[in-house]
Amino acid sequence: MRNIRQTGLDNIFTLSMNGSKILSTKSLVPGVHSEKTITVGDEEFRIWDPYHSKLAAIILKGSSISIKKDSTVLYLGAANGTTVSHVSDIVLEGTVFAVEFSPRAMKDLIRISIPRTNLIPILADARYPDSYRNMVSEVDFIYQDVAQREQAGIAIRNASLFLKKNGLLILMIKLKSIDSIKKTDEVAKSEIKRLEDHFNIKELIDLEPFHSDHTAVIAQKR
Ligand SMILES: C[S@@+](CC[C@H](N)C(=O)[O-])C[C@H]1O[C@@H](n2cnc3c(N)ncnc32)[C@H](O)[C@@H]1O
Repeated sequence: MRNIRQTGLDNIFTLSMNGSKILSTKSLVPGVHSEKTITVGDEEFRIWDPYHSKLAAIILKGSSISIKKDSTVLYLGAANGTTVSHVSDIVLEGTVFAVEFSPRAMKDLIRISIPRTNLIPILADARYPDSYRNMVSEVDFIYQDVAQREQAGIAIRNASLFLKKNGLLILMIKLKSIDSIKKTDEVAKSEIKRLEDHFNIKELIDLEPFHSDHTAVIAQKR
């Protein structure tokens, strides 16, 4: 394929443009006019912007996470579906359960999920996983980007219900949403300490320069 290179990750590609590396996923639903895409032969690739997606940022920063084409993912804080749609491109043979509590964002999420048969939108509050227990199966990954206090608590409760043993949590900690007075280092340390009772911490990734005041925690369920 000209210009486009397969990464070591399922359905994720890179493209070199003016000396910088651009990330993309192969479109599961080609022909959406509002998206930035590149067409090579009869295949369409959607540009995946690390400034708009923390998952794209950690992949560009070299995280070892590897979501596979048959993975199941519980995505907490799906918003209007920017990142979720790329996860749906990746897990072609799997499923993404996308939880979001804003009815306005859910409207967009439902719209993008209609042609994406592997994407299940769920209008619910991630703090109360019992409320969507009947809609979600066991998953290989939990991706959490909810910008809430109690982020570790939300992750622990969801993981205890849905994450497989040895499954991976990818948690985006927005340091200032937890405590605006404590120093960011202190905040991250106390959230990570709470996680350590349930998970082995695998990686900590600072999201600079793409997202300030954010750290990604990759942790494996024991
Ligand atoms: C930073 S945005 C997520 C961006 C999205 N992950 C992306 O990359 O496209 C955080 C989202 O989490 C949602 N959210 C916050 N608290 C939540 C909760 N308790 N349950 C479900 N969604 C929540 C917000 O409504 C918002 O849409």
